[in-house]
Amino acid sequence: MYALVRIFLIKIVFVYSQSDHFPDCASGPLSKFPICDQTIPSRERAADLISRMTIDEKISQMITTASAIPRLGLPQYEWWSEALHGLAFSPGVSFNGSISAATSFPMPINFGASFNMRLVHRMANIISTEARAFNNEGQAGLTFFTPTVNIFRDPRWGRGQETPGEDPFLVAEYAYALVQGLQGGEDARYLKIAADCKAYNAYDLENWNGTDRFHFNAIISDQDLVETYLPPFEKCIRDARVASIMCSYNSINGIPNCANQFELEILARESFHLDGFVVSDCGAISTIMYAHNYTSTVEETVAVALHAGTDLNCGYFYYNYTKQALEKQTIVEADIDRALERTFNILIRLGWFDPPEQQYYRQLTKDNVDTHEARQLSLESAQEGIVLLKNMNQSLPLDRNRLLNKRIALIGPTANATELMQGSYFGKAPFLIDPVTAIKALTTGKSIDVQFVYGCKINGSDESGFSAAIELARTADVVIFFGGLDQTIESETIDRVSIAMPDIQLALLQQLERVVQSPIRVVIMSGSGLDLTYVRDSPRFGSLIWMGYAGQSGGLAIANVIFGEYNPAGRLPITIYPASYVDAVSMFDMQMRPSKNNPGRTYKFYTGEAVYEFGTGLSYTTFHYSWSNDTAQRSYSISSLIENKNDAHRVLIRSFRVNVTNIGTMPGDDVILAFVKVSNTVIDGPILPIKQLFGFDRIHLGINETKEVFFPLNVEHLLIVEQDGTKWLYPGTYNVLIGQQLVYAIELYGPFIQWQSKRQFSSS
Ligand SMILES: *[C@@H]1O[C@H](CO)[C@@H](O)[C@H](O)[C@H]1NC(C)=O
Ligand SMILES: *[C@@H]1O[C@H](CO)[C@@H](O)[C@H](O)[C@H]1NC(C)=O
Ligand SMILES: *[C@@H]1O[C@H](CO)[C@@H](O)[C@H](O)[C@H]1NC(C)=O
Ligand SMILES: *[C@@H]1O[C@H](CO)[C@@H](O)[C@H](O)[C@H]1NC(C)=O
Ligand SMILES: *[C@@H]1O[C@H](CO)[C@@H](O)[C@H](O)[C@H]1NC(C)=O
Ligand SMILES: *[C@@H]1O[C@H](CO)[C@@H](O)[C@H](O)[C@H]1NC(C)=O
Ligand SMILES: *[C@@H]1O[C@H](CO)[C@@H](O)[C@H](O)[C@H]1NC(C)=O
Ligand SMILES: *[C@@H]1O[C@H](CO)[C@@H](O)[C@H](O)[C@H]1NC(C)=O
Ligand SMILES: *[C@@H]1O[C@H](CO)[C@@H](O)[C@H](O)[C@H]1NC(C)=O
Ligand SMILES: *[C@@H]1O[C@H](CO)[C@@H](O)[C@H](O)[C@H]1NC(C)=O
Repeated sequence: MYALVRIFLIKIVFVYSQSDHFPDCASGPLSKFPICDQTIPSRERAADLISRMTIDEKISQMITTASAIPRLGLPQYEWWSEALHGLAFSPGVSFNGSISAATSFPMPINFGASFNMRLVHRMANIISTEARAFNNEGQAGLTFFTPTVNIFRDPRWGRGQETPGEDPFLVAEYAYALVQGLQGGEDARYLKIAADCKAYNAYDLENWNGTDRFHFNAIISDQDLVETYLPPFEKCIRDARVASIMCSYNSINGIPNCANQFELEILARESFHLDGFVVSDCGAISTIMYAHNYTSTVEETVAVALHAGTDLNCGYFYYNYTKQALEKQTIVEADIDRALERTFNILIRLGWFDPPEQQYYRQLTKDNVDTHEARQLSLESAQEGIVLLKNMNQSLPLDRNRLLNKRIALIGPTANATELMQGSYFGKAPFLIDPVTAIKALTTGKSIDVQFVYGCKINGSDESGFSAAIELARTADVVIFFGGLDQTIESETIDRVSIAMPDIQLALLQQLERVVQSPIRVVIMSGSGLDLTYVRDSPRFGSLIWMGYAGQSGGLAIANVIFGEYNPAGRLPITIYPASYVDAVSMFDMQMRPSKNNPGRTYKFYTGEAVYEFGTGLSYTTFHYSWSNDTAQRSYSISSLIENKNDAHRVLIRSFRVNVTNIGTMPGDDVILAFVKVSNTVIDGPILPIKQLFGFDRIHLGINETKEVFFPLNVEHLLIVEQDGTKWLYPGTYNVLIGQQLVYAIELYGPFIQWQSKRQFSSS
């Protein structure tokens, strides 16, 4: 949804120049109709309103830029607002009004690295509060096309940064926490805002080797669909009860997603119980015909999309061609009504037609935006997403008292990063703190000389800045290099070709390492993995940090980590592959398991050696794990488990408990990851995951402090997905690994059983 943005921005000025952006249910024409009667169920209110519209009026409501219907007193409404990590530039959002900025949080990939879903929930609360304040001022809609809950399948994907990482369980937990925080809140009667889980489904390619997202046909086995691509959407729809989902540009197995009745009606609605609407990605209805050649006439295209369950069109296809489709009888009027009932039902649930006086959310104002709490949380989030990958000889943290009268050199293209740290889908931040400014601020008043030299750009071949950088490095006591990527290399429409470190940055590093007086500290900003083998292996690099794109206070966050004001605890939410990975597997290959032309994808299936594994991350302190080797049950009969099988997700086997103690010399957080690994089983079928995440937690521990953490293990975590998408429970040994250590082994015995059939894809 990229190309359309510019066109729409011009429109916004007119949309919101009128103060009347809410329907007048007090005295306008609408006030006489059931739509304004709160005692009537929302579906009936919607149906009645729609029944009063003419065909042309109905058609005008089927697109994201819906027109006003003055005759009925219905104002215009822009359905397309964005808020990936804070309110973002989009057709529905304007920063040109009484509120001029919104809190800019780190990118979703950073939240994945934080492994802290309470933090995600708190952020979502603040975003939805700010969204309501913007809406009350006429500067935003109430329907937001966020979050992105595809898994980060391939490191080349330009939009992987919009996701919290490569693991379906992590992405699902993120989707749940985020959507709950956006939609729920202080007033249970109303949706706070409407979220949208996108892009459904298996959207994870922009443009690679001549095929773009509009034309890409993802070939996916039922096994991968059930095991990997569906779970985050299922969690978002079934458990978080999201108000909408977005069908994506690509096809799956020959069917464009916005024309896929099985996915939209059977899976999303019937199986996962979607109670909301489906919106097309922007232009994705027209691509059914023009890119995928799935249909040959516009009338047929309207029909397949509408019949598949695509209710709302981002773009103009429905607007242009629905009348023709009615005339050619490829659709009937009831198809339109069904779509509009679903969309208007959400506007009603948002309180759009209800009296403002009785609604908490309608009282929010610009005073609720960019609050002290919001600033604090953005900084905390940036800190929690920072991942320390290497720290030889305690190169970090730097002790400022030992740097008096010394010189710190800050070198590299991201040292003064500002907007770069906002990643993609960003808005106008109240301020942007770059690392140079923050490091200078944290050393003021001490006689420490902090100098910055750019050295080189993110990419390219311009070495003209090298000599100044080398000169500065030679004279500095400490050198910190800031490198990484930016949106010119990874973004919407742009997949990477290489996942190596950009040549120019590596060349500069190799010259710097020859002249420095102490090992270089390296900081990488990027939304995806890049091959950092050289920095990892050379003794001339003392430390290595990955910090994603950390938002408005990213510079302060990294400065706090560098000086030990904050003890890092983030963990990689992705596998960092060697550069050769891109030659080993085609980006078109959707298969997760290894094959002749595919070394396997993600920590669950990758058979090669990662540069840094999923879950890697160090601390300045040391944690010790202990567990009681109690007499609790270790052996379970499969037939006893099936007796509780009402809901596969929550058949608890047992909860694992571990005590974590901070035995080091600094307070800090610890992220504890819990994996399960199958061994010693009779299965003669699919390749099994190497291991699988089933729980995680993040806790804070003072020095010598101990806390107990719990990880419930459900049957669902042990199910084996066969090629045909069926799920089975097998006897065997299941090892539970917590923080890399084997904590428990449990046994399942008895005959294996089929837990879930193919068509269900999910028990309910
Ligand atoms: C912002 O609003 C002001 C005042 O209404 C107007 O002059 C200006 O053109 C607007 N800018 C943009 C970018 O819309
Ligand atoms: C890219 O496409 C070209 C032409 O179709 C083909 O020859 C080449 O093998 C492809 N490259 C990769 C890496 O798939
Ligand atoms: C779609 O059809 C057009 C015209 O018939 C043709 O040029 C194009 O190659 C086709 N595209 C695909 C992806 O089949
Ligand atoms: C809709 O019609 C307008 C005006 O004819 C045209 O410019 C636009 O390209 C059409 N859009 C689609 C998606 O067909
Ligand atoms: C960072 O510094 C370089 C070199 O002085 C400059 O060209 C660039 O514009 C600066 N970037 C930002 C975001 O200020
Ligand atoms: C960096 O720039 C070079 C040319 O200067 C180009 O070949 C390469 O693809 C670029 N790398 C990235 C990651 O964009
Ligand atoms: C760590 O310290 C040892 C012993 O002082 C030294 O040989 C080594 O080069 C140091 N490594 C780094 C990366 O600082
Ligand atoms: C953790 O420590 C507490 C207090 O010493 C103890 O009661 C508890 O049993 C321990 N839990 C585990 C799992 O070892
Ligand atoms: C932590 O425990 C050690 C060993 O019992 C003790 O020497 C030390 O003083 C304790 N530190 C703190 C801050 O409590
Ligand atoms: C638990 O105790 C048993 C028997 O003492 C021992 O064999 C086993 O290795 C212990 N397991 C763990 C995880 O400590």
